[in-house]
Amino acid sequence: MDDLDSIVLIENRVFREPWTKEQLSFELKQLSGKIVNVIEKKDIIGYIMVQKVQNEAQILNMAIDIHCQCRGKGKKLLKYTLDELGSETDVFLEVRESNLQAIKLYSDFNFEDIGLRQAYYSDGENALIMHRRVEIYGVV
Ligand SMILES: CC(C)(COP(=O)(O)OP(=O)(O)OC[C@H]1O[C@@H](n2cnc3c(N)ncnc32)[C@H](O)[C@@H]1OP(=O)(O)O)[C@@H](O)C(=O)NCCC(=O)NCCS
Repeated sequence: MDDLDSIVLIENRVFREPWTKEQLSFELKQLSGKIVNVIEKKDIIGYIMVQKVQNEAQILNMAIDIHCQCRGKGKKLLKYTLDELGSETDVFLEVRESNLQAIKLYSDFNFEDIGLRQAYYSDGENALIMHRRVEIYGVV
């Protein structure tokens, strides 16, 4: 909660339909998961919000601030988060169909496109549903 103002600033810079401070605050209060901030020289330059219930997780939101993008930060943040969740957690997320940069990033971490939410965003754009499957050991 102490970092909310920094997160709101980034949210407004990177998203076409940013969550408001009130929405972010609401999500954070009821989050049964985790938010991880990326810090550079004491400033917050990115974050990821993850909801986790038993062995299923949902990435609610992920962003790297505009001036820090394309420097490998998003990749590091996602890797850290997935390592923390462990290989026995199914991970889901939704992403704008047009967000090729994010889709490429998620695909590189073995997220698969499993469906579409039609007109999910208020401007009518569809959301791609992506899923990273639990690793099943011992199956031949
Ligand atoms: C998506 C986002 C989190 C990625 O973070 P980032 O720090 O910019 O990404 P990285 O520099 O770590 O790059 C990771 C991967 O993204 C992809 N990528 C990065 N820049 C790209 C570009 N210009 N075009 C296509 N793919 C790109 C590549 O797969 C890259 O991996 P590679 O370098 O091995 O090819 C960041 O760009 C962002 O905050 N975007 C706006 C908010 C957003 O879309 N969030 C996700 C919503 S679900």
